[in-house]
Amino acid sequence: MPTPLGRSIQDYSQKSILRLHMPGHIGGKELLPPLREAAPYDLTEIPGLDDLHQPQAGIKQAKEYIASCFGAEESFILVNGASSGIHALMLAAGSVGDKILLPRNVHRSFYGALVMSGADPLYMPCTINSSLGMAVSLYPSTVEDYLNRYADIQAVFITSPSYFGTCAQVEQIAALVHKRDIPLMVDEAHGAHFSFHSAYPRPALEQGADAAVNGLHKTLPVLTPGAVLHMASSFPAPETLRAAWSLLTTTSPSYLLMASIEWGVAYMETQGQALLEQARELSCEYQKKISQIPGLQCMGEEFIQEESIQAVDPLKVVVAIWEWSLNGQQLDALLRSRYGIQVEMAENNFILAMFSLLHKREDWEMFYQALLDLSRSYYRPGRGKKLVENPPLPQVIFNPRQAFFANKERVGLKEARGRIAGELVAAYPPGIPCVLPGEQMNAGVIDYLEYVQKSGVRIQGPADPTLQTIQVIS
Ligand SMILES: Cc1ncc(COP(=O)(O)O)c(C=O)c1O
Repeated sequence: MPTPLGRSIQDYSQKSILRLHMPGHIGGKELLPPLREAAPYDLTEIPGLDDLHQPQAGIKQAKEYIASCFGAEESFILVNGASSGIHALMLAAGSVGDKILLPRNVHRSFYGALVMSGADPLYMPCTINSSLGMAVSLYPSTVEDYLNRYADIQAVFITSPSYFGTCAQVEQIAALVHKRDIPLMVDEAHGAHFSFHSAYPRPALEQGADAAVNGLHKTLPVLTPGAVLHMASSFPAPETLRAAWSLLTTTSPSYLLMASIEWGVAYMETQGQALLEQARELSCEYQKKISQIPGLQCMGEEFIQEESIQAVDPLKVVVAIWEWSLNGQQLDALLRSRYGIQVEMAENNFILAMFSLLHKREDWEMFYQALLDLSRSYYRPGRGKKLVENPPLPQVIFNPRQAFFANKERVGLKEARGRIAGELVAAYPPGIPCVLPGEQMNAGVIDYLEYVQKSGVRIQGPADPTLQTIQVIS
């Protein structure tokens, strides 16, 4: 496999050299035992090992190789996760006074990016599967509507696939955005594997996106938090993007991580197609079998019925629990304690199992058998679906940067009516922020927060998770 960066760190670590340079573990002999084996390869910018910020040798070749595998004009290695790619893209997309269009269910890294850039967010509502309480996509017509209503949008961001594997109509959205001569950028953190098999959802770049971010560690054999940011030749500000990426990237990148990214991509180029085919077939077979277990349903086929969803990743297995006396969190706990299975997430009405292209038939079978076994004790016909209410879309008064630097105080939830939020509150499900710093808490928002408080859903963000009090801007 073409792994020039991996080869160069291997060559160096095999030489007998007195290491009078960083890192201070000098090859790792004193490190914790599980780390010792990898530590000799944990190197830094010494002759022969290139420099991530000015690549001329192994890192340059690795970057070019990655770009060619993903069909990008240029790919940037990210050593701080997909989050840092989102940060870099947002810095390149606009600054103070610029409007950025994005769906309301974006990952929290977008909020951090807006604090850094100072741009104004315009949030679009997303499509929701209300029986699961899950934001699954957004309609191209919603994007069109916002583009028509606001003439001064600088850039559009969307997320596709979602955390749950549901993919948006990226091609249609790209065409709408390009009519306005502005760029479309895609948070494709969960879709790095799409480029390696034509029967998987189509990658965003292939559908006309001007840039996309892949969290490689999420779906490929790559160490956490390895990721890449891909820029297409159509991206309007390549120099600004390079500068933003460099500004946000450490001067001490992990060579282990970079080599893992390079190796993971080379592995996908050589073995990905065959392994993804096998994984797709297993997914098809087992999703059907799981859906035949009384009271359960794998949602892949169901999701596709929703018009805003173009395709679904077969490796994200969302199992809806319709007629069991257990909820998702209880099922999650039983899978762990009784069967030694840990799923990716669990909510009231579903669990999300993330399969990798490396899982074998016996892994799928083990998951299936555990669910089948549990159905014998917990199937309860007639238990109804509990629908999830969706949060309102509050008005943005201060943009994220203004809100971040504003003075804040804490008040009781009732007193917060009409005030401007100083902290984020998100309820799971549906995981869409109820309110973000800088947004007005009108009666609808307070009512929703009171509903969240009473319904016992998981709350993320506020310092007081009971929501007795909330931080507001002074
Ligand atoms: C949709 C989405 N985008 C971006 C990210 C950020 O990725 P990372 O944790 O690699 O920075 C995540 C993380 O879970 C995510 O789910």
